[in-house]
Amino acid sequence: MTYIIAQPCVDIKDRACVDECPVDCIYEGERMLYIHPDECVDCGACEPVCPVEAIFYEDDVPDQWSQYYDANVQFFDDIGSPGGAAKLGVIPKDHPIVEELPPQSQD
Ligand code: F3S
Ligand code: F3S
Repeated sequence: MTYIIAQPCVDIKDRACVDECPVDCIYEGERMLYIHPDECVDCGACEPVCPVEAIFYEDDVPDQWSQYYDANVQFFDDIGSPGGAAKLGVIPKDHPIVEELPPQSQD
């Protein structure tokens, strides 16, 4: 089980979640951040600090963002399990469902 990040993060990237994660498993793409499903230890510390409420336990993802479970998992298909996000910095890609979104803004 894991937490995931959904669409409200896109183009916002507040990064408050990164500071809370005890295992450094929140990785930064170009337009949003992604939680590594195997490295997350379900501590839940990230969820309440996101100002746009983009973070959900995988069983609680709203229907309109259900694709974001796969987006968080598939983002790591070619990355594997680096065991820490800080050393990677910004990873120059996003999941295809994020790449195709028009620019997002916080309403
Ligand atoms: Fe994104 Fe929220 Fe983290 S906007 S970077 S999920 S604090
Ligand atoms: Fe980190 Fe959030 Fe998981 S703080 S361990 S990504 S629940």
